[in-house]
Amino acid sequence: MVHAIKWVEDDDGAAVRIIDQTVLPTEESYLELRTVDQLVDAIARLAVRGAPALGAAGGYGVALAERQADACGWDDARLEAEIERVALARPTAVNLAWGARRVDAVRREGGGGALAEAHRLAGEDEAANRELSRLGADWLLERTGKKILRAITHCNTGALATTAWGTAYGVLKELHTRGALEMVYVDETRPLLQGTRLTSWELAQDGIPHVVEVDGAAASTILRGLVDFAVIGADRIAANGDTANKIGSVSVALAAHRAGIPFLVAAPLSTVDVTLASGDLIEIEERDQDEVLAVGGTRLSAPGVRGFNPAFDVTPHDLITGIVTEHGVVEPGVTQPAFA
Ligand code: MRU
Repeated sequence: MVHAIKWVEDDDGAAVRIIDQTVLPTEESYLELRTVDQLVDAIARLAVRGAPALGAAGGYGVALAERQADACGWDDARLEAEIERVALARPTAVNLAWGARRVDAVRREGGGGALAEAHRLAGEDEAANRELSRLGADWLLERTGKKILRAITHCNTGALATTAWGTAYGVLKELHTRGALEMVYVDETRPLLQGTRLTSWELAQDGIPHVVEVDGAAASTILRGLVDFAVIGADRIAANGDTANKIGSVSVALAAHRAGIPFLVAAPLSTVDVTLASGDLIEIEERDQDEVLAVGGTRLSAPGVRGFNPAFDVTPHDLITGIVTEHGVVEPGVTQPAFA
C-alpha cells in the first residue's frame, strides 16, 4: 500500500515525505518537504490532499515548524504564526486545522512530544479507517440485502487521501476482500481528476473491477439501476450530518435519493466538526478559475471568459442514508446524529 505522507529523518535533517499527487499516475515521485513554506505550497497545490492525509500534514507540520524554529532562531510568536499558516493552508477539510491544533497543544506543554503525537495521530487514522470500512461494508450488505454489490464513488478516498487504507475506498476494498464487490463506477472528478488519476490507479493496484465515467454520467448511471449504492468520503461533517465533500458529491446524493439506493458517507470521527450546527457554516474553498477553463495546461475557453471553481459542495443530511465512522453508522435523515 502506498503511503501518502510520512515523517523521515536523513542526513539532510527532518522532512515530511509525500508522494506527489499532482503528477500521478504518470509519474510516481516523492517530495521531501523540509520547510513550512514547502509544506504549505504542497497542500495548496494538492500535492498532498484528502482530509485525513491533511490531518497528518497538519500534525507533522507542527513538528516540522518546531525543527525550523530551532534551526532559524524563530521566537515563539513566529513559530505560532508559521503553525497557523499550516493549519489554514486550505479551509474546508477540518482535519488539517484539527491535526495542527492537536499536535500544537502537545508542543505547548513542553517536553518535546510534538512528533510522537503526530505519529500517534497518523496511527489512529489508519486504525479508524480499517474499522469504519468493516462497519460500512456490514451496513451496506445488511441494508441492501444483496450478497454482491455494484458501487459508484466520487473523488479519491484511498490510501492516497489518508494515512493508510482509505475511507470510502476502504469500504470498497473491504467488500472486495469479502468477494462482495462486482464493479465500481468511478466519477472522473473534474477539474483535477482525482477519480481518473488517483482512484482508478489505486483500484487497479488492488485488482478491483472498475470503470471511469465523466461526472455528468453519474446521475444517469444511478437512475439506470447500474449501481446498488453510492459511497463518498468527507472533508467536514457538521453536527446535523450535513457533509462537505468534493464538488459533484451532492449530485450523486440527489440521484441516489431519487433512485432509493443507499448513499453512504465514510469518514473518521476526526472529520466531524460538532462546532458547526449545519453545513451552511462550512467554508467552501474556491480555487483558481484556470483549473476549470484549461485542460492539461491548454486554455479551452474564449479569452475573457471567467470560471467558477468551488472545490467542494455540501450534501444536506436528509439526502444521506448513513454516515459511518469508526464508532458505527448514524442515519442523519432519520435521527439527529449523535457522534461518539
Ligand atoms: O481537493 P481534495 O482532493 O483534497 O478533495 C478530497 C475529497 O473531497 C475527499 O473526498 C475527502 O477529502 C475525503 S478523503 C478520505
